[in-house]
Amino acid sequence: MSTAQATQERSDSLTFSERLKAGTRSSHDAAEAHDFSQALVSGTLPRHGYVALAAQHYFIYSALEEVAETLADHPVGGAVYFPELHRVPALERDLAFLCGPDWRDTITPLPTTRAYTDRIRWTVHWPAGFIAHHYTRYLGDLSGGQVIKRVVQRAYGFTDGAGFEFYIFDRLDSLPRFKKNYRAVLDALDLDEAEQTRVVDEVRQAYQFNSELMAELNRSLALASSSDLG
Ligand code: HEM
Repeated sequence: MSTAQATQERSDSLTFSERLKAGTRSSHDAAEAHDFSQALVSGTLPRHGYVALAAQHYFIYSALEEVAETLADHPVGGAVYFPELHRVPALERDLAFLCGPDWRDTITPLPTTRAYTDRIRWTVHWPAGFIAHHYTRYLGDLSGGQVIKRVVQRAYGFTDGAGFEFYIFDRLDSLPRFKKNYRAVLDALDLDEAEQTRVVDEVRQAYQFNSELMAELNRSLALASSSDLG
């Protein structure tokens, strides 16, 4: 068998969840390597950068969870309806803790966040595309997000969850078990080859939005030129 055939065979035998992971690895690694991610995960991001990210998360998860509710009974979109994942209540508490009771008046979506949330809301018409956005954020929060959780707690001196509840999934018994089940749900979806490819492309697009958002946060906070960035 030629190398090309062997490669083809391997890719044909991948499950959908394996295709999603393998097909978007370079986009993931670019997002992970971004200055902003690196500052966050090394505990050198200034506190105002952390707060600015939480504010943008609020808009992003509001869009995700709005579409999740709309698609809850849809055979494809509803397959990932897991309200126990939902982050908006935790973000509301984090922002009240970080910015005070008037936090809603102090935050606005950045242009990339507007484009990202428009795209998420548009997937109400394409439920498999919604799954791409759901997977990119929540599986990330259950993976690298758990490393970030430990770092930010130490870096900003948080106690009892206040300020970083976003990273705490206390409605899940076991994160590894949840992720395993989530992948099984993805693998049980009835999506043909072409549709799977479109979803992989949409996940790349979701990573792109996240990377652009981090670049925009760097610019708007002037973090890139700040010696605080480490
Ligand atoms: C400091 C930044 C980051 C670190 C250290 C990090 C780390 C990791 C690690 C170690 C895994 C593998 C976990 C496992 O296999 O169980 C993972 C998976 C994942 N990450 Fe990240 N990550 C980072 C940033 C991001 C960003 C910005 C996103 C998207 C917004 C993201 C989305 C994902 C997703 C969707 C997965 C699951 C891949 C799969 O198993 O299908 N990550 N991350």
